[in-house]
Amino acid sequence: MANEFDPKRFTVIDHPLVQHKLSFLRDKDTSTKQFRELVNELAILEGYEATRDLPLEDVEVETPLEKAVCRRLSGKKVAVIPILRAGMGMVDGILELVPSARVGHVGMYRDPVTHEPHQYYCKLPSDVESRTCLVVDPMLATGGSLTAAIQFLREAGVRDIRALTIVSSPEGVRAVLDFDPEVRLYTCALDRQLNERAYILPGLGDAGDRIYGTK
Ligand code: PRP
Ligand code: URA
Repeated sequence: MANEFDPKRFTVIDHPLVQHKLSFLRDKDTSTKQFRELVNELAILEGYEATRDLPLEDVEVETPLEKAVCRRLSGKKVAVIPILRAGMGMVDGILELVPSARVGHVGMYRDPVTHEPHQYYCKLPSDVESRTCLVVDPMLATGGSLTAAIQFLREAGVRDIRALTIVSSPEGVRAVLDFDPEVRLYTCALDRQLNERAYILPGLGDAGDRIYGTK
């Protein structure tokens, strides 16, 4: 479905496998175990798209028959940055694709009344500024948590930031793209709106609680 956002900076991954898995993820009767597995699988599919333009270089390889020129990822390094806690559910999926990636953590919780993000923990790789940073968080609602994480990474000197969410609200996408003119945003679904408690509709509820089986 067409959307109002710049396609160079915002991608909705509408692959059939993504839509299929998302339908189970949204279902209130999906178990914690299955929810966790689906978040992991969606992170892999999304990570595949978000790394589509990583630079390659030629390498010579000897096949059993002859020499061949092949392509491998050039030295460009990657970091995965989950926004705690729900973002942790997407880390292993990205690491399946890029096993050498470093992992940085940004701890952020959303105040239930004001919906403002509060940072409680941060630890980044020492060379984070030279890495492509894939910031992962299943939910983009008001955009407060993701914009705060992006600001933190910019202050740390990171240039290449790609944010991967699973479900996003139009309000959150607008907030993130307006906040940072360079960030690229990927999501599996652009939902209708936020409710009065800043939950995404139709959404999937509280992603962190559903991943970890808490309430
Ligand atoms: C959720 C979600 C995002 C944030 C989105 O986390 O995982 O981080 O809310 O909302 P926003 O766009 O309005 O900031 P939450 O703060 O509930 O913490 P959790 O991951 O520990 O559940
Ligand atoms: N955080 C969630 O986990 N879900 C929402 O719908 C909004 C914020």
